[in-house]
This record gives sequence, C-alpha cells and structure tokens, in this order.
Amino acid sequence: MQSDVVHHHRTGCVGFLIIDYPPVNVLGAVVRSGLASALEWALADDEVRAIVVACAGKTFSAGADINEFDAPMVEPSLQSVFAAIEAATKPVIAALHGTALGGGLELALACHYRVALADAKLGLPEITLGVIPGAGGTQRLPRIIGAAAALDMIVSGAPVDGAKAHSLGLIDAVIEGDLLQGAQRFSERLVEQGAKPRPTRERPVDSTGFDAAGIAAVLSKHSRALKGRTTQQLIVDAVTAATLPGFDVGLSVERNLADFSITTTESKALRHQFFAERQVARVPGVPPDALKAPIARVAVIGAGTMGSGIATACADAGVAVTLIDSTAAGLERGLSLIASNYDSSVARGRLTAEAAAQRRARIADSLDLKAAANADVVIEAVFEDLALKQHILGQVASLTPASTLLASNTSSLSIAELARPCRDPQRVVGLHFFSPAHVMRLLEIVRTESTDPMALGKALAVAKLLRKIGVVAGDAFGFIGNKMMLDGYWREAELLMLEGASPEQVDAAMESFGFAMGPARVNDLGGTDVGTKTRIELFKRESRPDPYFVIADALTAMNRLGQKTNAGFYRYEPGDRKALPDDAVTQLIMDLASKRGIPRRGIYPAEIVERCILQLINVGAQVLESGVAVRAADIDVVWVHGYGFPRHLGGPMFYADSLGLKRVLERIEHYQSRVKSEYWRPSALLVSLATKGQSFAQWDSESTSA
Ligand SMILES: NC(=O)c1ccc[n+]([C@@H]2O[C@H](COP(=O)([O-])OP(=O)(O)OC[C@H]3O[C@@H](n4cnc5c(N)ncnc54)[C@H](O)[C@@H]3O)[C@@H](O)[C@H]2O)c1
Repeated sequence: MQSDVVHHHRTGCVGFLIIDYPPVNVLGAVVRSGLASALEWALADDEVRAIVVACAGKTFSAGADINEFDAPMVEPSLQSVFAAIEAATKPVIAALHGTALGGGLELALACHYRVALADAKLGLPEITLGVIPGAGGTQRLPRIIGAAAALDMIVSGAPVDGAKAHSLGLIDAVIEGDLLQGAQRFSERLVEQGAKPRPTRERPVDSTGFDAAGIAAVLSKHSRALKGRTTQQLIVDAVTAATLPGFDVGLSVERNLADFSITTTESKALRHQFFAERQVARVPGVPPDALKAPIARVAVIGAGTMGSGIATACADAGVAVTLIDSTAAGLERGLSLIASNYDSSVARGRLTAEAAAQRRARIADSLDLKAAANADVVIEAVFEDLALKQHILGQVASLTPASTLLASNTSSLSIAELARPCRDPQRVVGLHFFSPAHVMRLLEIVRTESTDPMALGKALAVAKLLRKIGVVAGDAFGFIGNKMMLDGYWREAELLMLEGASPEQVDAAMESFGFAMGPARVNDLGGTDVGTKTRIELFKRESRPDPYFVIADALTAMNRLGQKTNAGFYRYEPGDRKALPDDAVTQLIMDLASKRGIPRRGIYPAEIVERCILQLINVGAQVLESGVAVRAADIDVVWVHGYGFPRHLGGPMFYADSLGLKRVLERIEHYQSRVKSEYWRPSALLVSLATKGQSFAQWDSESTSA
C-alpha cells in the first residue's frame, strides 16, 4: 500500500522512494513509517535492483521534526529506519537537492551512495540548537569523510555545497540537469557494474589528523562562534567514539550524548531563540492578510548613515528604492557610502561585481520629496529633530495614498507626536533600524495607540521582505531595547564605575559573561555623543533621577567622543583601535562620585555581572508589564539580535527563568536594600510571578493565548 507521504514507483530496474511531506519533508513519525514500508516494497520487488531515496518539492529532508525533541520518539525511530536502509540487500542511493540538513543528511549517510545537485546544501547544523546529531551522523560521517573533516563539519554546523561535498567524498557524484534522471543513470551504472550495497557502518574510519592537536585546531578555528558554549565537547566525544572499534558501541555513545545534549540549558536556550525568532511576527490583533501587503517600492528620506544603510538593505533584498535628501551634498555622501560598501563586498569576494551593480541599480535618487509619491512604504531617516520630522511626515502624508505606510527611524522621539500633523496618523509607525542597517537583523516596529492593525501588518511585511526580524514595540521611552539598555544595564554599569569599578573591569566582566563588547567599549565605538543626543531627546519625554549617564555625558562635553577623537572611556593611539586605560577618566569618575558622596571600593567581577544582568531583567519585566513588549520572548530576540546578549543564554528573560524568578527577586531585593536607589525597585510583574512560582515563559503562554 502506498503511504500518503512516501510514494514509491519503479522505472526500469530502479525503485524510487519519494518523500513528499511539504513544506520541507521533515522526518516526522508518518514519514518514518512510510519510508520503512516503501523500503519493504522495494526489497520485495524482484524487478528492483537498486533503490533511490529522494524528496519531492523544493528540498530534500530538512531534518528531524524539532517539535518531537522533548518527547520520546514514536516508533519506528530514525535509528531503526536508517539501520534498515543500511542493511538493505540492494544498493540504496540518496538523491539530494535543496537542503539536506540534520536528520535529512543522516538519512543520506545511512544510504550506500549519495548523489546531489551542485547547489544542494549538505550539513549537520544541530550545534546551532545546542544538540548533537543523534541518528548516526557522528558515527557515519567520519566513516565517509574522515574523522577530522567530520569534526570540523559538525562543530561548524555550516552546510557545504555539492561541489565541496564531492571533494570531501561525502557524495559520489554531482548531478547536472534533472536529479531523478541523473540518479536513475547513476543507479543503472551501479547495477551494470554489479555494485553491491556499501553499508557505511562497515567502512573504516580515516583518523588522520584526529589527534589532540587536530581537535584543538578545529575548536580554535570556531572559537569565536563557540564562546561560552559546551556542545562542541560532546561532539568531540561522539566523533572519538566513532574512531574506536564497534559501530554499535559508537551509536550508543552518540545516543547517550545526544539525549544529554537535549537536556542542557544551552540547548533549551538556543531552541527558545529559534522559536522566539519565528514567533515575533505573530502579533495579536494583526490580520494574517495584512502581512501579505504588496511592497514594490520603498522611499527613504535622508541619505545619512541610517538612510543609506536602509536603502542598501532594500536593494540587497531585491526591492526598488528611492533615496531622497534635501541637499546635493547629503545625497552625494549617502550614495558614495553605498558605493564604497558594495565595492568592499566585491573586494572581499562576498559579491560578484555583476551582482553589486544589479543591486546598486535598484537605488534611484532624488532631491525632491515628491519622488516618494509612488512608494508603498516611506521611511524617514533625517536628523533627530521633532519639528523637521513632523514637517516631512506631514508632507509625505499629503503626497501619498492612505495605503502607503509611513515610518520614522527615530531612536528617541514619540511616534504619536511625529504622526500628529499627518492627516491619517493611523498609518504611521516607527521602524527602528539598528546600525549598520544593512547588516543588523533586528528591526523594532513601533506602534502607537492609533496605529491601524493593517499598517502594523505591513510593517511586519517590510521586516520579512528585508530579511529582518521585526519585533513590535510600544511607543514609549527607548522602546524595548534602548529602555532596557539605558534604564537598566548601562546605567548600572556607570553606577558601578562611580562606586569603584574601572571601565576596563566592567567591560571585562560583561565580556566574560558573553557580550562581544562591554558597555564602555561599545560607547567608544559608536561615539559617546550619540547616546548624549539620544538622552537629551528622551528627557523631553521623561526625566530620570541622578546619577544617570553622568560619565558618558561628561566625556561628550569634554569632546572625548570615543574612537573618532582617540579618547572616550579609554584613550587610543592614532590609527589603533586598542582601548587603553586613561588616568584622566579615572580622575573624572572619582570627581563625579565624590560630588555625589558615593563611597568608592573594589568590586568583584561577579557583582558587576550580577547587577548589570539583574537590571536588564528588572527593566525587561517593566517593559513587559507596561505592554511595550508583547512577549518576554520578544525581549529576548531584541537583546540577542540588537545588543549582543549571548544567544546560548537565550536572552535576558529566558536567562531569568533559568535562574528561577524567586531567586532573581531575592537578589534584586538584596541590592535594593544595599544600593538604595529607585532603580532597584523590583517590577510588579516580577514580584507577582516570583510569588506565584511562575516564569516569564508561563506568562507568555498565558497572556498570548488569552
Ligand atoms: N546612527 C544610528 O546609530 C541610529 C540608529 C537608529 C536610528 N537612528 C535615527 O536615524 C535618523 C538618522 O540618523 P543618521 O545617523 O543617519 O543621521 P545623519 O546625520 O547621518 O543623516 C541625516 C540625513 O538627513 C538629511 N536631511 C536633513 N534634512 C532633510 C530633509 N528636510 N529632507 C531630506 N533629507 C534631509 C541630511 O542631509 C542627512 O543626509 C535619526 O532619527 C536617528 O535618531 C540613528
């Protein structure tokens, strides 16, 4: 009997088993049992001399069903189906196209031969979710490409294309033209040559280069991506098991390590991020149709740093864009910035000259605001000036039909205020891109009380179109990310400096926690004046009690703007980005502390980290309770993608859950009694959840299902 999701047929002497389980042919229970029965058919049919396993649709299997991870696997398991394929008495050939990833590639590894299209992508990306391949990947891959190459491929998690796979010996042939016809020819040749099944489990492992030095070299090659991670050690152990005698022993070692990897907080955190990134676009009240709004042309007003980056992001995504500035000099500066960005991508081999030229051709320019009239989306990125932005949005509103989405890239102004002069403020949103806008994936989408759900949907569609992660935020002080950075993390970091920690101690502590750069170094990189200007605008909305960024603002006043003036929180030798401690800064901080009567003392790194992270969590809880963020998981996405919070810790709110909210509250109350500042008052939501023994994850599932 034919399964619904795995079809079989015979052409000549070749039996085809075709997995047809859209969208990406995951190896769920129905597919596994369908594959097992189709295999039985092929083995029983005497006319079938060789068996091809392939997939219908746009891709070979993209892997196991991630939703099955936390429960025991329904029989037949992947392992048992793969064992049956490997034990088949007729040659089994995997034919790959699209992405053969994770369990998908493990299926191919259990086959006796593999062929693929040149643009197919083959990989074991499990490490990106903090788990290790658990269906034979760590045991079979070393038998096919050697232990050292297998370790590199599994630890990197990155896929290889057909050509690379062929050179590694991972596939036996690259197919040109039609995959199934190519696989048929390949299989017929095997039959003509009298080729036998070639079970991977019986192949010897080439252990050349898989010694202590070789392993260390692989781990060091990927050390940046693996900072703070532990999964790679489990992979080393599993591949080591493959080099020892006994395939079945190796499989059971892999099984134990894989089962363990699923239970780690690291894996839970990475899977949390994976799902959170996909969930952000589901916003209560936004009709799904709104996300399908057609967007053919974008207009960007203001050709500065942000405007030119946003125009580049549009061009990179294949969207026609018009970049508008009020001055020829401004426009010229933006266009040359774009040109030099593309030139450097070509020079670094990331883009062909032809592709770069195609992208640049998508960017039209104009000195006339009327050029925005035919755009589906208009994004304003002029100077951070309320009256100027209001004037521009008002004008654009009168130039464009009501269906055009109007957006501002402001980082500090109220979107509702900006929208006031527009005849239809319900189509105005904030689109808060992060710098560099063509690189950073985060996009905060700011809605006001009057934003229409269709307009919000269109903003989410813009994010998707530009391959960004759009997170909806309320129109409040600092939106989600900057509010938590300013009121929480960085403010506390400055307080710690006033209390006695040096900028380098604060940076080192936060970098050891997992941030790529500590707050003082980030300030120096971006320019201390940028934050000062933002805070001046924000303070027009709400003020904050002293001390609030008194160090950064003093540095700005002294024209110590960071790297661009060779002095900021640190000093720099001309032409060198190495941050050097500066006595003048120590003196400045001591003066600022003494003026406020703040006693100075030595502070351990653990206290620095704990206070900064507790602040992040507490202000995050405020953001959640005020409705500025829809979900705790949205906050996690903002912090991982916009502010460098370590992904393997899941984001500040997931991290809080992993510590336990009761413990988090106790520690906040501890510092509240010591520091005696209103910044240490625990959020009401945090108190309520901690008292009930609940988590932010529970709050998310209850509040968004209601
Ligand atoms: N720089 C960042 O990191 C960052 C991040 C997020 C958001 N933002 C926000 O983005 C906006 C732009 O910032 P930027 O750093 O790109 O500024 P910028 O000074 O580099 O560029 C502003 C551009 O606007 C142009 N402009 C001024 N008046 C205009 C008008 N009437 N019509 C058309 N163009 C006009 C200027 O000529 C200039 O080219 C600001 O609102 C800022 O707060 C900046």
